[in-house]
Amino acid sequence: MIDSNIILIGFMGVGKGSLARELSRRTGYYAVDSDDLIESLENRKIKKIFKEKGEPYFRALEQRTAHWLEAYVRNAIISTGGGFFAVENLNRIGRVVFLDADFEAICARILGHPKAAKKIKKRPLLQDMAKAQALFELRRPLYTAKADIIVQTEGRDVEDMAREICQELDIPLVN
Ligand code: S3P
Repeated sequence: MIDSNIILIGFMGVGKGSLARELSRRTGYYAVDSDDLIESLENRKIKKIFKEKGEPYFRALEQRTAHWLEAYVRNAIISTGGGFFAVENLNRIGRVVFLDADFEAICARILGHPKAAKKIKKRPLLQDMAKAQALFELRRPLYTAKADIIVQTEGRDVEDMAREICQELDIPLVN
């Protein structure tokens, strides 16, 4: 038992979900995703929440989700939306892992995906790439400041990164 959670933070498209699933496979802990929790709570997609209720409403849902995770979830791998790191209780939910890459690498990762158009379409904050880059520059030091560990993702596969995280956080592997 890790008796805590592992929280993956980082910019949109960096690969938090894929790494969470790999960590789940290797450790036997469940993976949950903050955006999935919000979508199920609201019974609508993130894109629709932004469109119908606006970003501040979505940020309040992230904070509510963060309090719920802190109160009720243990021994889980938690992947998060790119802005979730700003919740006030992040470091009380678990150990924070920042997945780092530069903006070009993130764009290349998204554009290289077979469903690139769909991946961009569902993210309201990726509609204007100049604005997305400015957001990235603003957030990068903030992600770093909240991180217990920083994992460089460029050119690495999920197996390699999962191994590093488990080693750093002293988590036993079952697979
Ligand atoms: C957001 C990132 C998205 C999602 C929402 C807002 C952000 O999640 O939470 O569109 O503020 O960076 P991903 O990081 O999974 O794309």
